[in-house]
Amino acid sequence: MSGETVLVVDDEPFMREILQEVLSAISLHVEQAQSVGVARQMIQRSMPDLIISDIKMPNESGVELLRWIRQKELKIPFIIMTGYIDAELTAEALNLGASSFLGKPIRGSALCESVESALSTVRMAQREEEYKRSLRSQLDSLRQEYIDEIIQHQKLFAATLMSFANAIDARDRYTHMHSANVAEYSVVVGRQLGASRDFLEMLDMAGHLHDIGKIGIPEHILLKPGRLTEDEYDVLKGHPEMGAKILAPLPAMEDVITAVRYHHERFDGTGYPKGLRGGEIPLAARIISVCDAFDAMTTDRPYRKALSPVSALKILNNERGGQFDSGIVDAIVKAFQTSEKYAPMFSVAE
Ligand SMILES: [Fe+2]
Repeated sequence: MSGETVLVVDDEPFMREILQEVLSAISLHVEQAQSVGVARQMIQRSMPDLIISDIKMPNESGVELLRWIRQKELKIPFIIMTGYIDAELTAEALNLGASSFLGKPIRGSALCESVESALSTVRMAQREEEYKRSLRSQLDSLRQEYIDEIIQHQKLFAATLMSFANAIDARDRYTHMHSANVAEYSVVVGRQLGASRDFLEMLDMAGHLHDIGKIGIPEHILLKPGRLTEDEYDVLKGHPEMGAKILAPLPAMEDVITAVRYHHERFDGTGYPKGLRGGEIPLAARIISVCDAFDAMTTDRPYRKALSPVSALKILNNERGGQFDSGIVDAIVKAFQTSEKYAPMFSVAE
């Protein structure tokens, strides 16, 4: 035994003293209570490791103390002492989970055996609880390490993809910053539409990567200053599928991949690669399509000068329900007009 505390509850001082003597001899710390009321107060002050209580006492019985302990959901083992067998009280004490019964007069060896058995059950339960706690904390920390590692990988991967996107923009001096602009405008539109933070993050990534498939388009087509032949245009039209293919091994980027694949679909069904129409086109792809067109129109191209933002918005408006989703055209117009950053570019007189 190792200094655990036993609370002895008995109205007879003589019994309490005997128990104190026997239990102290096996290195237990003993406290005494002469009634159930006193025992309750002592338990509330400091929890003993074990209670040994007489049943029959002048005011409240030992069974009432046991019942109170169970109501409070205290996990203290409880040994009942009794001078005679009261069937009803004994049955109730058993139902309430008394650890054992000691018949009076009490033999020292029987007392020590009952106490040792009750305390070892408690110790085992405590060890099990500690083990479970430590297992849980180990699992939590492993889970956190795993999540941190995934986040780290995703960040690294996103950074790699961004540098790909920058490399694509850098191939063509005319489309310099195009992907970054499309990402920025798409997030502005997404926010205007009340999209969630997760969706906006996905949109930002999709905006940056929407033309990643152009990495596979030969430069003589991509950078051709004049009009493309039909065959050349067919090759260029392969870039959304090519982009989706490049990103395909990344299942976590499913929504980004879909946005990339369908960013050249048109709302009226005349786009590519699938000729999807209206709501069949994923929302992110519809947003990117509008922002892609706006940025393309407002930057210089080899074959024409940049249009003013006002003219570009007019063209977007003319294509409401045609090339573009009217809800998204409305959103970009509203977002630009109400934004501190963008509103000044629309105040220039045409
Ligand atoms: Fe594109």
